[in-house]
Amino acid sequence: MTFVPYDRPVRAAFIGLGRIYDLNVRGYVGNPDVEVVALVDPSEERRAQRRVDWPGAATFASAADLAASGIEVDAAEVLLPVVLHADGVTDMLDFGWHVNLQKPMCNDLPEAQRMLDAAKANDRILRVMDNYLFYEPLHKLKAAAESAEIGEVVGYHIKMVGSGNGGWDVPWSSFEWQMDQMKRGRGINVFDDGWHKLTTALWLFGPVREVRAWIGNLAVGPGVDLDTPATIVWEHDNGLRGVWDITIAMDMHLRSDYYPNDERWEITGSKGFARVNRCTARAIQQPSLEIYANGEMRGYHALDDDWASSFRDSGRHWLRWLRTGDGPLLWSGEEAVDVLRFALAAYASSASGGIGVNPRHIT
Ligand SMILES: NC(=O)c1ccc[n+]([C@@H]2O[C@H](COP(=O)([O-])OP(=O)(O)OC[C@H]3O[C@@H](n4cnc5c(N)ncnc54)[C@H](O)[C@@H]3O)[C@@H](O)[C@H]2O)c1
Repeated sequence: MTFVPYDRPVRAAFIGLGRIYDLNVRGYVGNPDVEVVALVDPSEERRAQRRVDWPGAATFASAADLAASGIEVDAAEVLLPVVLHADGVTDMLDFGWHVNLQKPMCNDLPEAQRMLDAAKANDRILRVMDNYLFYEPLHKLKAAAESAEIGEVVGYHIKMVGSGNGGWDVPWSSFEWQMDQMKRGRGINVFDDGWHKLTTALWLFGPVREVRAWIGNLAVGPGVDLDTPATIVWEHDNGLRGVWDITIAMDMHLRSDYYPNDERWEITGSKGFARVNRCTARAIQQPSLEIYANGEMRGYHALDDDWASSFRDSGRHWLRWLRTGDGPLLWSGEEAVDVLRFALAAYASSASGGIGVNPRHIT
């Protein structure tokens, strides 16, 4: 890759102006590293709504129309339904744009390979963003695991409870494509939101050599199924094991500014533990990070634990990276393929009654 950092603000286009635009935009607002030159969405209503944020930007119904317009674009912020990722991203890389893609990267390995090949052929950067890697309590959790503070890490677990009660409004159109994804075997809990949990596992403790899973199905309405309850366990190359349980508590009220999703990460060390108490929602009204060691509990009360801040910081990191080329991309296209393999190994295991599957052996 012969990437040359930009010595001027990056000219960026938003591709997809739906629900998650509201958070991805935070990395761009007031950021001198970027100039937003275009907004793309087939929905006239969305274009009209988002145009107010960027009066100087041109609007288009498709990325192809933007490419044909003569407006110079350096990088695309791609916020499309997952099923459109592979074709859409390949086209944008072919247009010569760098791409910051929302997770999940795509549904299968051939799609992923197509995107990686297009990035290489066009000498462009493909980043698959994961805002969780920019959530401050998770950063402190990682630091606690890597320090001697809780002794030697001996295991960890992740908990995730989805509710239908609380949080912001999600338009039915955003759910519709998620339901199609579920029919393709890529559910909203394990695959879509779950992508973040798998990313954090790889980021915290490195490559995984074995995955065992038991993924259920919960019918919540005619033609509407959720991939719960689900239990997924794995072993990292370093021998450390992780456990992740996913449930739905449909009527549990969860205070949330975003999705009603209660999440926890808890790492057990030989001398204590470190636990992130919440992320997307605000279920546990205690410090977002607590660390127990030597008979004492320390609570972190002043972390930036608003979930939206992780989007802001992920976006800023990407745009700064394009200006400097410094440091890890957090997360590269190749690293995202490891997350995809992790998820596919869980599906393969569950389909075979929970046997151990090595993500590297998925074809
Ligand atoms: N990081 C997170 O926590 C998080 C949370 C929610 C969604 N997401 C991801 O963000 C992405 C978008 O999700 P969403 O919830 O915003 O979906 P959404 O349905 O609300 O928005 C998608 C937008 O894309 C537009 N669109 C459709 N086809 C298009 C095309 N060809 N060109 C341009 N625009 C097109 C739609 O009109 C819509 O406005 C998905 O990958 C999703 O998994 C991530």
